[in-house]
Amino acid sequence: MKKAFVKSYGCQMNAYDAARMADVLGAEGYAATDAVEEADVVILNTCHIREKAADKVYSELGRLRVLKGERAEAGHDTKIVVAGCVAQAEGAEILARSSTVDVVVGPQNYHRLPDLLARSRTKRVVDTEFPVEDKFDHLPARRTHGVTAFLTVQEGCDKFCAFCVVPYTRGAEVSRSVEAILAEAGKLVAGGVREITLIGQNVNAYHGLSRDGANATLPALMRELERLPGLLRLRYTTSHPNDMGDDLIAAHGAIPALMPYLHLPVQSGSDRVLKAMNRKHTGDAYRRLIERVRLVRPDIALSSDFIVGFPGETDAEFEDTMRLVRDIGFASAFSFKYSSRPGTPAAESADAVPEAVKSERLAALQGLLDDQRHAFNAAAVGTVVEVLVEKAGRHPGQVAGKTPHLLPVQFDAPAATIGTLVPVRIVRAGSNSLFGEAATDAAAAA
Ligand code: SAH
Ligand code: SF4
Ligand code: F3S
Repeated sequence: MKKAFVKSYGCQMNAYDAARMADVLGAEGYAATDAVEEADVVILNTCHIREKAADKVYSELGRLRVLKGERAEAGHDTKIVVAGCVAQAEGAEILARSSTVDVVVGPQNYHRLPDLLARSRTKRVVDTEFPVEDKFDHLPARRTHGVTAFLTVQEGCDKFCAFCVVPYTRGAEVSRSVEAILAEAGKLVAGGVREITLIGQNVNAYHGLSRDGANATLPALMRELERLPGLLRLRYTTSHPNDMGDDLIAAHGAIPALMPYLHLPVQSGSDRVLKAMNRKHTGDAYRRLIERVRLVRPDIALSSDFIVGFPGETDAEFEDTMRLVRDIGFASAFSFKYSSRPGTPAAESADAVPEAVKSERLAALQGLLDDQRHAFNAAAVGTVVEVLVEKAGRHPGQVAGKTPHLLPVQFDAPAATIGTLVPVRIVRAGSNSLFGEAATDAAAAA
């Protein structure tokens, strides 16, 4: 049996795509493998969001060149595929830079992998045209899933933040139909999935065709999904503040399956910087949004993305970001140094912030966010929370799962609890995980 190795970089959408590529090859008779040295096809599903992420691909390709040579000596042909957002952004340039690569395929074209691999027997191929057909209509059924799963409901972005490559690598915003999503979700749940995270670059701009021919919003879609028997939890990510409509805010108080967690990137707390970023919202507009969400769901865990050192960012403007973080209080967050990306408007700016200043600001921001995260985790100690058990834990007799706030928990319970909700008393907060004990005898004995 032929074997395929798929490695994914970047966001959840790329992780979803990687799983679907494995499905496409699975339907062609390839078994998935975690051992790159035994693979007949190696797929790197790349990310272009920051320079570091994009550069990783080329160091990886250097290693694969050696591996491919060794495999060839042993009489094996290894096909090397570069997929994902670097593939979309750089296309044929990748073939020019690396002689190891056989196939370059963009995020909207990977349903054609079997054909591309066949064609690559005679010559190296690039497929990054945005296709007229919808890849989702051409993907085989999903094979691999556990207790939790991602489900792409929307792709692409029309927002054009000045720093960001996504509108170019993923193309315009497109929503899948309610029917297609329900069909995929139904199969996932039938296969044992209990929590679905709806994903999209701008998931709250979702406006897919509903079954009555109108357009469904994200909350309308969630109302359909919550009816699936066996589905216990719903999440969604990632959202843009300007698409947080009244109905979506209300949904946080009205849909029991929707978990009290919101990842809502703000990027900066400075109105001048936000304007230069083309974010089209202010720091105060973000504060007001959060206030309204907290009104319907006071216990919601908040998460965000931040960029420090955007061109022209002054010390005072950076302090505005720190002030916003202090005002709001986040349970978790991602923060990055601004990375200039070819082809984006911000890359034209002349007033770059020195690297040393960026590093200083990032350390200060991450220090503050870490303190907030630790405080949030510590507040869970002593409470009883419902944990969705996902897998065996680190030690024998333990299982691991997540709280509604997406915090990982380890506790002693039989493996039979996997896929169920167990009330757990949290006894200790470690640096990456909470530790607890099953809070009911019934669960402990289950
Ligand atoms: N679609 C998502 C974000 C996609 S990228 C959204 O709009 O929220 C994830 C995060 O990477 C962004 O929120 C931003 O904080 C960061 N990012 C994007 N481009 C970047 C760049 N050029 N430099 C540094 N960070 C960047
Ligand atoms: Fe990028 Fe902005 Fe679109 Fe998010 S909203 S994907 S940051 S352009
Ligand atoms: Fe990266 Fe593409 Fe996702 S650039 S963050 S993999 S959409």
